[in-house]
Amino acid sequence: MRKFFGLAIVGAIMVGMVGLTNADFARPADAIAYRQAVMRVIGHHFGLIGAVVKGEKPFDPKDVAHHADIVAALSQLPWEAFLVPGTAEKSQMKEDALRKKEDFRAAAGETEQQAAKLARAAAGGNLGEIRSHFGGTAGSCKACHDVYRSR
Ligand code: HEC
Repeated sequence: MRKFFGLAIVGAIMVGMVGLTNADFARPADAIAYRQAVMRVIGHHFGLIGAVVKGEKPFDPKDVAHHADIVAALSQLPWEAFLVPGTAEKSQMKEDALRKKEDFRAAAGETEQQAAKLARAAAGGNLGEIRSHFGGTAGSCKACHDVYRSR
């Protein structure tokens, strides 16, 4: 399982380095599936860190660092998949994301930066710092969802 994740992340990072453009999706449905899948995986690992931060799960520093690395790597990936024309009406994304691409990209960049800080804090293993950067990251997710997500 660990090995699989390792490979998945190497793959994800390589995609990130090559850089997707919104023209890389043959059909709008492909872009929607891609971004929803990435968001879901981010949400899963972020939620596992959240359980530790809220005291619902014991603090295992290695575990938290692993989840934070995944969140930081994946948060570099999905944004161009949001900016594919014709994908708002069939998803939970509001049309505004397409109308205000620069604002959307800025909100995405904020999450990327916050997630990178969370990953650094997690590597350091200090729960207080992890909690603080978890809060900062969660705030950046919410800031985008409040404006660009419909449900
Ligand atoms: C720049 C905007 C933006 C940021 C930042 C963002 N999201 Fe999202 N997220 C969206 C939009 C828009 C959707 C709806 C996508 C769709 O339906 O195609 C979404 C959907 C989701 C979903 C539902 C996926 C599904 O379809 O099952 C989850 C879970 C999620 N986001 C978690 C997060 C988490 C956790 C963060 C922060 C670490 C985050 N998001 C940051 C815009 C954003």
